[in-house]
Amino acid sequence: AGRIRFNAAPMGWSSWNRYGGEVNQSLVKAIADAMVSNGMKDAGYQYVNIDDGWMKGRDAHGNIQADPRKFPDGMKALADYIHAKGLKLGIYLANYTVTCIGRGGGGVLYTGSLGHEAEDVRTVTSWGVDLIKYDDCDGTAGSFDAIRNALDSFARDSGKTVYLDIPYVTRLDQFIHTPDSWAAMDIGDSARIASDVRATWASIRHNIDIARVLAPAYVEPGFVIDMDSLEIGNGSLTPAEAQTHMSIWAMMSAPLIAGNDLTLDNGALGLLTNREVIAIDQDPLHFAASEIALRPGPQGDTHVLAKPLSRTGSRAVALLNEGDIEARIKVKFADLGLAKSPASVRDVWAHKDLGVFSSSYEATVAPHGTSLLVIQGQEPALSGSVRLGALRWAY
Ligand code: GLA
Repeated sequence: AGRIRFNAAPMGWSSWNRYGGEVNQSLVKAIADAMVSNGMKDAGYQYVNIDDGWMKGRDAHGNIQADPRKFPDGMKALADYIHAKGLKLGIYLANYTVTCIGRGGGGVLYTGSLGHEAEDVRTVTSWGVDLIKYDDCDGTAGSFDAIRNALDSFARDSGKTVYLDIPYVTRLDQFIHTPDSWAAMDIGDSARIASDVRATWASIRHNIDIARVLAPAYVEPGFVIDMDSLEIGNGSLTPAEAQTHMSIWAMMSAPLIAGNDLTLDNGALGLLTNREVIAIDQDPLHFAASEIALRPGPQGDTHVLAKPLSRTGSRAVALLNEGDIEARIKVKFADLGLAKSPASVRDVWAHKDLGVFSSSYEATVAPHGTSLLVIQGQEPALSGSVRLGALRWAY
């Protein structure tokens, strides 16, 4: 079982989805400023994560360096700037000689950390970094252990716990075959479950379909699955698709890391800062949703996903329509592990009570859309655990 280091998934922003390797000091400062002024910080977003593309070689002592053209004042000054705003700084490192951008050969090569794990952890923590994303670009598994050990010794010396997000590639076999001893849980605070997200429905749906299967078995206090950062505000997801994206990430208690240009308001902010949706993601009971109903449809399946919330008798429920046509989707209260009694239903996105229903609730859901609900009923008597679908969770 994993050690508990953090009690909820991180919320923040990452440069990768929108900017790729084109990350620099003025961009990062502008994003931090925007997070403070546009309500993102107030909604709970904290981390400003610099992904791949920030580094340039090593100094005479072997210390990894930020590219001085991109970060003229250096990373320590940038970390101070971000901390002064009440935010946190995340940074990307990679377990190969070069980072994943350059792995394929050609183009710019950015400095990787293989063989320099302890030094690089020392360097970035000396800048004040609060989160490390340690990527897999064909290095060895032992490189992950080295990062974990370096972070543990930093925590012993400084009393500060740095969040560690790891990729999925090298660990996927262990993830599937030996869940009880899955090393990723001992190494990371979260691990990616799929290849890189894109701003397309096919990609969002792919990550949801992996999470539906994996998340209920692996998410626990102190460890979450990373469904990758959010594509809300990028590309051309329909409003229904963007809402599904945010809804299901929240249902899985996954990290909410915005991946768009936060200095614009193109409608994304409203989705990213919906407090009732965020509360489902950050609920202290910290379960991932389990599938309680699946209906194959000719143009795509419909799903009912549910998870218990910390408030007694409360369940978050997603009526998810993966189909290309509108669908009626029903949740039966009996499937939610509640006592046999009427329950009240709230539309989470709309912040609206829909009324009290006797045994089920049914809604019409747009193509690729999600109706996100909180259903308030009563726990069954003598309950120390809750049964949803095939899974049983003990409190
Ligand atoms: C990998 C990761 C991405 C991103 C890029 C950077 O592909 O999965 O999230 O960090 O590397 O090169």
